[in-house]
Amino acid sequence: MIIPLTLYIHFPWCLSKCPYCDFNSHVLSDEKAIASYVDSLLVDLEIEARTHKGSELSSIYFGGGTPSLLSANMVTKIIQQISKSFTFKPAIEITLEANPGTIDLKRCEEFQHAGINRISLGIQSFDDEKLKAIKRIHDAKQALAAIDVVKSAGFTNFNLDLMFGLPGQSIADGLKDLQAALNFMPPHLSWYQLTIEPNTLFAAVKPSRLPHSEKLWEIQQAGQDFLSKMGLKQYEVAAFCRSAENTCRHNINYWQYGDYLGIGAGAHSKITAINHSVKRYWKTADPRVYTQSEDFIEGEEIVATGKIPLEFMFNALRLYQPLSYGLFQERTGFTIDSIKTQLQSAQELGLIELADDSIVTTKHGKNFLNDLLEIFL
Ligand SMILES: C[S@@+](CC[C@H](N)C(=O)[O-])C[C@H]1O[C@@H](n2cnc3c(N)ncnc32)[C@H](O)[C@@H]1O
Ligand code: SF4
Repeated sequence: MIIPLTLYIHFPWCLSKCPYCDFNSHVLSDEKAIASYVDSLLVDLEIEARTHKGSELSSIYFGGGTPSLLSANMVTKIIQQISKSFTFKPAIEITLEANPGTIDLKRCEEFQHAGINRISLGIQSFDDEKLKAIKRIHDAKQALAAIDVVKSAGFTNFNLDLMFGLPGQSIADGLKDLQAALNFMPPHLSWYQLTIEPNTLFAAVKPSRLPHSEKLWEIQQAGQDFLSKMGLKQYEVAAFCRSAENTCRHNINYWQYGDYLGIGAGAHSKITAINHSVKRYWKTADPRVYTQSEDFIEGEEIVATGKIPLEFMFNALRLYQPLSYGLFQERTGFTIDSIKTQLQSAQELGLIELADDSIVTTKHGKNFLNDLLEIFL
């Protein structure tokens, strides 16, 4: 049994805090904080490398926050350091999240020379009024320019993040955003419904003119139909790709219950032992405390054995593809019979169909994914 391993690197700084964001991200008040954070990342990496030396990585993901605030030299240094302790799978995917307003052509070319081969751009919308309503630091013109520089720098693999359910958004507005994105022929698109998360500014002061649930449903259905007509394949709740080669392999590994190492403030790791026991641990979340820390780990848990099959299902059911019994057994160490009762309930409710070798989520199951996931909670 070889479970794929990926590496996540968290960068917690942003130029401003968006009012809907509940990620571990903080306003950068002093540029010097970046250099000392990178020093800590390298130590964190070295500690992880002691236990996992020689392991093969199938992807690396610089997420945030706004990792495009890192200099290309810093990215180069981190990737070189990783390559000293780990082996890279041939054609490894190395993604960096970038925000419009923080990149130009030179920077993008330098990121590419540093080893980044996939950029994920946080566009959100191409409509200035909507961008203002969610207090993004960039306007539509900068969003368009950012995609241009990513393409001009030679990135053939890139993702655009868009959101729907924005204040005052109509179905036509939502489709207009999708069309504007498709004009760039993106290999990958992420289309998220704006969620009002607790502990965000939007939770305290709800923005006016948020679309109600019926409208949200209509925008979502219209958008999914449109993307499908335009040749994009939906392979997860919010993820669309032009071809199978363009899926986000890093995220697929999470959904398929693969293993991952996380370095950086608040980053989580999951490691499966040879006897199939699963350990999770996580790093100190506050970046200022993280940079003062010595071992970085804030907590850990061994997943209760009985919970492993349920955790697997909770993740894997998000993927819009048949879920093979073989993968279930490989990743959990259990046979599919261990979740027979839950599968029967889901089948009786018309949420899944059971084939000879796999589980197939029905259209009804996709539309009521939360009901399906709850069965495995
Ligand atoms: C890790 S975030 C940040 C990426 C980048 N810092 C940015 O904001 O452009 C990745 C994506 O999650 C989405 N996202 C963040 N908060 C959200 C929320 N409350 N509801 C829906 N989508 C959200 C946005 O589309 C965002 O681009
Ligand atoms: S830029 Fe991205 S990570 Fe930073 S606050 Fe805004 S949504 Fe959050």
